[in-house]
Amino acid sequence: MEENIICNCMSVSEHEIVHAIEKQDAVTLQDIEDITGAMSGCGSCTEEVEDILQRELEK
Ligand code: FES
Repeated sequence: MEENIICNCMSVSEHEIVHAIEKQDAVTLQDIEDITGAMSGCGSCTEEVEDILQRELEK
């Protein structure tokens, strides 16, 4: 999977976020933040992370 960086502050890729959802049972934005560190900087990536979360949960 290509390394599409979603959270620049913490260098968290889309792959890491999807992995957190699929393999580490993340179901909320807080879970993703706890697991990956995404969104714990400036917070501007929150909307994009939320889109990925919605998309993955609907699978
Ligand atoms: S880009 Fe994710 S916290 Fe800043």
